[in-house]
This record gives sequence, structure tokens and C-alpha cells, in this order.
Amino acid sequence: MATQRIAFKVHGTVQGVGFRDFTQKRAIEYGLKGWVKNTDCGRVEGEAQGAEEQLQKFLKDINKGPRLAHVVKLEKKALNTQIKDYFPPPDAPKIKEVETAWAHPVYTEEEMHRVTVGHRQAKNWSDWVALGSVRLLRWGMDLVTGYKHPEPGQEHNARFQMTEKKWLTRFVFLESVAGVPGMVGGMLRHLRSLRRMKRDNGWIETLLEEAYNERMHLLTFLKLAEPGWFMRLMVLGAQGVFFNGFFISYLVSPRTCHRFVGYLEEEAVLTYTRAIKDLEAGKLPKWEKLEAPQIAVQYWKMPEGSRTMKDLLLYIRADEAKHREVNHTLGNLNQGADPNPYAVKYKDPAKPHPGKGISNLKTNGWEREDVI
Ligand SMILES: [Fe+2]
Ligand SMILES: [Fe+2]
Repeated sequence: MATQRIAFKVHGTVQGVGFRDFTQKRAIEYGLKGWVKNTDCGRVEGEAQGAEEQLQKFLKDINKGPRLAHVVKLEKKALNTQIKDYFPPPDAPKIKEVETAWAHPVYTEEEMHRVTVGHRQAKNWSDWVALGSVRLLRWGMDLVTGYKHPEPGQEHNARFQMTEKKWLTRFVFLESVAGVPGMVGGMLRHLRSLRRMKRDNGWIETLLEEAYNERMHLLTFLKLAEPGWFMRLMVLGAQGVFFNGFFISYLVSPRTCHRFVGYLEEEAVLTYTRAIKDLEAGKLPKWEKLEAPQIAVQYWKMPEGSRTMKDLLLYIRADEAKHREVNHTLGNLNQGADPNPYAVKYKDPAKPHPGKGISNLKTNGWEREDVI
């Protein structure tokens, strides 16, 4: 029997009457998978997936609800069953949900559209080492993800056409690599603080938060694509080599490493900008109506009406632009002595300063004399 997936919203007297419990019990009874939650505006909403016949019975039940409920309206919508839930939320009887460790700042649409591709000029040998390494890595990544950027005039050559699948492969690989530096930097600064018995001045949290944010990017894309064994092997190899390489490099020159991540993020912004352009140009028809996975809606607090694949790419690109700014800024600082400009209170709050969101985003990062 065909598997279907639906999203439902129940309006009426549905909170405080055991509605979710009722829903869950019925779903289990009918062998359905999914989730259910209360919304802030007094509704109950969720998703259910399973055999068509069982889903119909389930919908009929929740249209009535438990004894004390009064359902005014049941909204339902068929969802794309291609979205695979291959890491479903924990199915434990006493747990409702897992909270986000770092709440994501809210970005406005206008701010996200202001993000642009950019490049910070290399000014010294350390910058050149960083830039050279990113170019090398990029070459390797283009090779394994089958990406070739067209020369001007070659845009319509079939060899350069990116499909939804090719983009996702590239995103998954990119994000699995991007989650490494923040964790390594945070870990090494943590250990240094313990070892030298000195304070860290607020860098660790920002670095770990970046790693977390990159992992959320990866998890979001994994909701849309299941990588095959070749991709997993590539990710495994890349992590083994990259983690160790970055670890040693960070011990030798953390400044060069932050510049390296700054340049890497320039490439990430470019990648997402191109994907958004392809989507806008109608080259990725499967994504035009695709909704962002629930994990993304929750994490980025995507407003209703702006939850498409394109919105998702705009959010992720803005995150990458933020990493670009943060790492170029950290690369401008005295690594041992300067406080983290993203974790301090400024003496003059009227002037623009580095912050959590992207309202004062600087493509090339903040110069040391402007923030310290
Ligand atoms: Fe990312
Ligand atoms: Fe990033």
C-alpha cells in the first residue's frame, strides 16, 4: 500500500484537554509515524506518515479529538514523502523534544538579501598560505562532488548543469567539512586555558557555536538526501585528513587558521549564491515547491509563508556570511590577548559593533582597531 505523509493543524479547544496524548495513542494504534505539538497560538499541529487507509482513519479521529476537546477546524496537507526521516526525533515515552543548545538569532528577509559574495585581499604571507590552502581544498571538493563552474559563455553547456542531487551532494560534503574548524579551535583554546590557567576571553563559545551551526546545516540537508556509500567514504576520509591537518595547523598558527576559515566561508557564500541563482532561474524544478524540513523551520524560526527551499538556502547563506565575518575578524586579532569582539559589551553602544545577528554584517570582517 502506498505510503503517504500529511501535515495537520487542529483549531478549536485543543490545548489542555489531552489532545496530543490522544493523537499519539491513535497514531500508534494505526501504525503511523510522525510528531505532534502545541503551538503558541493555541493550536495543535503535527505530521503523520503511513498507509493511506490508516491515515484516513487517523484524520477522522483527530477531527473529533478526545472527550473534552472541541475541534472547530482540521487543516490537512499532503507532504512530499521523498523527505526521509532517517534520524527521527527520539521516541522516548517521557521526552517531548530535544532543545537547541544555541538559539539561532532571527534574520530578517531584507538582511538575508543584502548578503553578497566577497573577497578579502591577502595582505601577508599568512593570508597567502590560508588562501592557497582553500584553493587546493576547493579543487579537491569540486573533483569529488562533480562540480564544474562554467567559463563565461559556457553556461548552457550540459557538462556544467547542476541538478538538485548534485547540489545536495556538494552541500553535504561542504557542511561535513565546515563543522570541523570551530570545534578544533574551541577545543584547543579550552585546553590552553586549562593548561596555562588563564582565561580565554570569550572565544570558545563563539567557535563551538559555529561548529554547531554547521552541523545543523548538515543535518538539514540530510533530511533531503541520503548519501550513498561513496559519499560516506569521502566524508570519512576528508574528516580524518582535515581534522588532523587543522589541529596541527591551529597549534602552529591560529591566526592563519581563522583566515583560512574566512576564505573557506567566502567559497561557501559563493556556492549558495549560485544555487539560489539556479533555483531562481528555474533550473531546479524539484525545489521550487519543496518545503524546508521541520528541523530547519524550528532552528531558524522560519516565519510562516517563508519556508521554502529557497528561503532555507537564504538562511544558510547568511550563516556562512556570518562565519566569514567572524573568522576574518578573529584572524585580525592578537590571538592570545584580545577578547572576542562578539562576546563583549562596548563602551560606546551607539556605534555599530560586531554582534550575533547580521544587521551589521561586514564581508571582510572587522579590523582590530575598530573593535578592540
Ligand atoms: Fe554551513
Ligand atoms: Fe560556514
